[in-house]
Amino acid sequence: MTRNLLDYSGKTVLITGAASGIGRATALAFAEQGARIVIGDVGEGARDTVEQIRAKGGEAIFQHADVADSASVQSLVNAAVATYGRIDAAFNNAGILPPTADFADMKEEDFDRIISVDLKGVFLCVKYEIQAMLKTGGGAIVNTASVAGVIADPGMAPYAAAKHGVVGLTKAAALDYAKRGIRVNAIAPGLIRTPMTERWLADPQFTQALMANSPMGRAAEPEEMAGVVLFLCSPAASFVNGAVWLADGGMTAH
Ligand SMILES: NC(=O)c1ccc[n+]([C@@H]2O[C@H](COP(=O)([O-])OP(=O)(O)OC[C@H]3O[C@@H](n4cnc5c(N)ncnc54)[C@H](O)[C@@H]3O)[C@@H](O)[C@H]2O)c1
Repeated sequence: MTRNLLDYSGKTVLITGAASGIGRATALAFAEQGARIVIGDVGEGARDTVEQIRAKGGEAIFQHADVADSASVQSLVNAAVATYGRIDAAFNNAGILPPTADFADMKEEDFDRIISVDLKGVFLCVKYEIQAMLKTGGGAIVNTASVAGVIADPGMAPYAAAKHGVVGLTKAAALDYAKRGIRVNAIAPGLIRTPMTERWLADPQFTQALMANSPMGRAAEPEEMAGVVLFLCSPAASFVNGAVWLADGGMTAH
């Protein structure tokens, strides 16, 4: 009988930003494969995610955590270890979008806010997750970058800076721990239908431009990212390290 490489029974997975969107879909998918889920989020909607997991017989806890705050992230990692004894995999996914503006009109406080949540937040999570993983023999980490970590969109300078930064720190962390049993990768989603993008997707002009410019002519559902994350955290991806896994329907292929 072949081994199911995506079996997460008995594994603990820490996920940030699982109150909605990509994080919630991924939390549900990990739980369906048997994982125990620890969610850190500023959004109380994470309680619904926990309820959905428990309703299907899974195990999950939620701790209010702001990824931009070091003490908050340390406390989240400590809670995961205190509850389940270890962290096998982590999905650092929490993120926000800046208001759209041309570069020279961008407000400094908006830049600082995006960098602190979308970039420093990932730095803090990776740092404390690695400390915990080293004590229990290793693990796998996936960070949510974006196609904005590979190319830039007009009017989104702080987001592009933060997501390019996520790609950089993913590669750097992967190199530092490659011989110590920890793999660190990133996903780079294209346009995904979540609360973050629902305003754009409700605009007929935007949707028309999307149909014209995207090779697959559609946005993705959050569940389509979940499979990529489960793969990257699993033994099926045992030699994938420091990679930026594009999941953009071919958007950056041309
Ligand atoms: N939707 C897309 O098209 C798309 C594309 C590329 C990348 N992304 C990235 O995917 C990730 C998830 O976004 P989504 O589309 O699912 O949006 P979403 O708004 O549904 O989810 C974002 C989650 O992050 C949480 N969050 C925000 N700030 C936080 C903080 N300071 N601390 C802890 N949690 C916080 C929110 O409460 C929410 O649960 C983000 O990093 C986003 O940048 C999204």
